[in-house]
Amino acid sequence: MCGIVAFAGVTTCAPVLVEGLRRLEYRGYDSAGLAVHTGRGIEIVRAVGKLGRLAEALQKRELPGTVGIGHTRWATHGRPSERNAHPHTSGPVAVVHNGIIENHAALRRELEGEGVVFSSDTDTEIVAHLVARALACGATNLEAAVRVALGRVTGAYAIAAVSSNEPDVIVVAKQDSPLVLGRADDAWLAASDIPAILARARDFVLLEDGELAVLRRTGARITKLDGTPVERAPKPVDWDIDQAEKGGFSHFMAKEIHEQPRAVEATLRGRIRRGSGEITLDGIGISGDEAKAVRRVYFVACGTSAHAAMVGRYWIEQLARVPATVEIASEVRYREPVFEEGDLVVAVSQSGETADTLAAVKAAKTRGAKILAVANVLHSAIPRASDGALYTHAGPEIGVASTKCFTTQLAAMLVFALWLGRARGTLTEADAARAVDALLRVPGQMKELASDGAKAEAVAHATRDARSALFLGRGTAFPIALEGALKLKEVSYVHAEGYAAGEMKHGPIALVDRDLPVFAICPKDRNHEKTLSNVQEVRAREGRVIAIATHGDRDVAALAEHVLEIPEADELVLPLLTVVPLQLVAYYAATLRGLDVDQPRNLAKTVTVE
Ligand code: AGP
Repeated sequence: MCGIVAFAGVTTCAPVLVEGLRRLEYRGYDSAGLAVHTGRGIEIVRAVGKLGRLAEALQKRELPGTVGIGHTRWATHGRPSERNAHPHTSGPVAVVHNGIIENHAALRRELEGEGVVFSSDTDTEIVAHLVARALACGATNLEAAVRVALGRVTGAYAIAAVSSNEPDVIVVAKQDSPLVLGRADDAWLAASDIPAILARARDFVLLEDGELAVLRRTGARITKLDGTPVERAPKPVDWDIDQAEKGGFSHFMAKEIHEQPRAVEATLRGRIRRGSGEITLDGIGISGDEAKAVRRVYFVACGTSAHAAMVGRYWIEQLARVPATVEIASEVRYREPVFEEGDLVVAVSQSGETADTLAAVKAAKTRGAKILAVANVLHSAIPRASDGALYTHAGPEIGVASTKCFTTQLAAMLVFALWLGRARGTLTEADAARAVDALLRVPGQMKELASDGAKAEAVAHATRDARSALFLGRGTAFPIALEGALKLKEVSYVHAEGYAAGEMKHGPIALVDRDLPVFAICPKDRNHEKTLSNVQEVRAREGRVIAIATHGDRDVAALAEHVLEIPEADELVLPLLTVVPLQLVAYYAATLRGLDVDQPRNLAKTVTVE
């Protein structure tokens, strides 16, 4: 979704802003723009399409100045066009915005009634006019005017504003959309996400909802919207810039698939030990007694994170013997869910900022549920709204299609299920130790899988003309089927469906013919034979079977056109392995088609609108 970068420093800011916006490209966008104090006032450059177009426009125009704001827009109100691209201006003011102003229609009518002429279809332009109007009506400076303007709007926003009357000042504010401040030598920056300013800033401050900050080269002053001062010291983060670069890979998605062994290892580190059933989880906010009293686990998540949650459900029920359900976060409010004492809501979100998941967390919280966040971004909104957090340590994930965040979510949730099982006495120490050892072998096994891309590439070639694909699995392989289908459709735009293998005969079998690739996830697990029967049913209808199977499984090999092998492993950890070849197939399917793998059309990395 939209990305914001702001810079107040001593060097020319346009290249810094473009560099920051490039690092936010993964969020998804369709136009971009900058507003810079040039000494002649504020100058604006905007362009439709990718950042290359903005860079071209900048080459044709000198844009000096050391204070400015930049934006990538993901269209919500008004189609992608230069007139709708941010920044939006009114009088001396220029504004960029991420989020949605929910009362925009009423405010627009009001402003038009006062004679304001709009030059875009966006909700953001309203903010620019409100700020300019406040200045015209006596607000003493930009900061005061932004406060007045934000008092009128409802909805979600992160904004950055500049005024030609205050050449050294940027005012930023946030409500339900992410914004982080960064301190550098001789500069202060702000951005929608840490990677955008990681190359420049040393320390970071996360702005909270309802807060506003005034940035100058020399400092940042944070207050609440009502003016109450906020003291929050900047803190360093343990991400390094190399993790946010492609590091020799052609795409972030490829790099992130290959980073999975390291990311899973980092997520397990300090929490489990070889040969031991003792699990250490700090910061989850659940005591041993509370663990014993848990009566139900209720997962909320979206997209890939919801698939990870579905695997988590199997583990929680199997290991901790607690009933568990998974709810797509965007649906929670419409169900009017009933939460009771002993309910534990687990919110899974790599970004920690997904608006639907955050809304579900808030809805659960008001009904008195205890909430645990599983997130990758430290101190992001969902962990902050929860009672405790179980962080994954995947490092920044830039590719829009989630890969390493998915497998680290799985690793974290398996560890949590083991912890809960031990705390509740449903899992023996020996069984926990066996699972731990299997889990500790996973990074090495993933490494083998990730480096053997040739077979996945061959499958992508062999199926390149397919217009649709079916993914089947049973048990924990079912969510992996869903995830395999999601990965393929996200990056290659091939229609794909994931199904519980046993459900195939109830409908999707009608699709099976000699043109339909059917990806069967059938590793050696308790469901192996049953899944194999489904594979037989596909073969009997001349369907093309691509199997994800355990190394050396001849029964599967006899039925499949292609076999993508995984090493033998304890069945508990199979989801962490079977997904890797599916990620690779999706990746190669997209690159073969010449598609933008890291920023698939219409998609955003962090979905900050509901
Ligand atoms: C994953 O490949 C997707 N791009 C998407 O489904 C994503 O998982 C979803 O938007 C949830 O994001 P979150 O994990 O940041 O909450």
